[in-house]
Amino acid sequence: MTAEPVLVSNLLDEARALIDARRYRPALRLLRSDAIPNGLERLHLLGLAHLGHRDAPAAIACLRRVLADRPDDADRLAALAQAHQADNAPFPAVRWFERAVRVSPGRPALTAALAGALRRDARYDDALVLARKALAAGDTSPDIRYEAAMAAAYLGRDAESLAHFDALLADDPEHAAAWFGSHAQALHGHGSEEALRRLRRATRCGGANGKYWGYLAATLRLLGRDAEADAVEAAEIGDNPKRRPLPDGARALLPKLSSDFRLFGNSGRLLRHALACATTPGLVLEFGVRRGTSLDHIADAAGQEVHGFDSFEGLPEGWVNSPRGVLTTGSQLPPVRDNARLHVGWFEDSLPPFLAAHPGPVRFVNVDSDIYASARTVLTALADRVRPGTVIVFDEYIGNRSWRDDEYRAFQEFAAENAVKYEYFAASPYTKQVAVRVSGVGRTA
Ligand SMILES: C[S@@+](CC[C@H](N)C(=O)[O-])C[C@H]1O[C@@H](n2cnc3c(N)ncnc32)[C@H](O)[C@@H]1O
Repeated sequence: MTAEPVLVSNLLDEARALIDARRYRPALRLLRSDAIPNGLERLHLLGLAHLGHRDAPAAIACLRRVLADRPDDADRLAALAQAHQADNAPFPAVRWFERAVRVSPGRPALTAALAGALRRDARYDDALVLARKALAAGDTSPDIRYEAAMAAAYLGRDAESLAHFDALLADDPEHAAAWFGSHAQALHGHGSEEALRRLRRATRCGGANGKYWGYLAATLRLLGRDAEADAVEAAEIGDNPKRRPLPDGARALLPKLSSDFRLFGNSGRLLRHALACATTPGLVLEFGVRRGTSLDHIADAAGQEVHGFDSFEGLPEGWVNSPRGVLTTGSQLPPVRDNARLHVGWFEDSLPPFLAAHPGPVRFVNVDSDIYASARTVLTALADRVRPGTVIVFDEYIGNRSWRDDEYRAFQEFAAENAVKYEYFAASPYTKQVAVRVSGVGRTA
């Protein structure tokens, strides 16, 4: 039975208040009740409640229908963009945020949201340009500073990243994510004590992510500060399944840590260091290019032709909470440096003809294709090209919940099957990268 208009309006207000208070379950219950008739406002609130309740597909379905009625409503465009973002689809999220900013320019929150969506779509250059422009125009909100800092970090500009983080922290000293993000960038210019200070500070902020303790324990462990790592693990980690993976991953590296092992916090810096350490001549390859960020570092530092392989259609199968196809660029190829060649397709199709046409050993490989099956395909195909001195960087080696079943497992199997001797000479708990140097191959090695 439908209620009187005044009552309906009160009920919609009540639902809105529940959503504002993040009480999504009761909001959904109320909005689904017969007391509220079908209508655009009900649908809009249903979309927001589904979004809060982490049912992104349901949110998208509602918000799309609402938008059809008012296609130029910036808030509705932004809500739909957020729903796509929550659905692990940064591509449409960027498109809807761009429309929202176009119809309602000059709104700092929308600009920061667009910069965040560009970052999630790995369009770091675009995100940084947008954020710098907003900062230059006087928008100095924590959100835009955060986006500037994150995009700069991905682009390997750790000094600029740190400057943005520090400006943010001067305004908002309790911003846990900024202390956390800044610790990794501070490592390079200011050393491990300053990085640890920032990481510890992040753990003390109100509402800090409990996983920061895992980063702290792993960083201490890889710095050889075992007593402190043990104390953090005992006090803050225990059996907590969300905090355990990174310290466990760091422990797994210890037996094969090289004497020249170095800790990193910035992906580009680790890649450049790993390339500099790869002195055995041969092919330079990357598996997993996406928007070309890491390939840019590799091509810049390699001093030779480099090859990037990708379907540009995202992951061939689901991974952790992400569906098949996540990380797609919609088949768009990124611009690359003159010495970089792209090889489009699934690795199992593109790699055999490439290897047939390119004999010789491998100098350097960046495996950044996330899942076990892709790493396994690559390592199996390259098995007879790997030599003492070959360097392999893995981008998701440790730290994820499923790390033991992903790249780590593929490499452990590869090493056992081919009697590969190796050591770990660089790692970054923050980015989850690990660099491996092969020291021997085969039973007689
Ligand atoms: C994490 S992204 C790569 C990120 C990139 N290195 C960067 O710096 O931004 C992973 C990429 O691996 C690709 N990929 C994963 N498995 C693949 C496979 N078996 N064949 C082709 N491409 C694959 C996906 O298309 C996706 O673009």
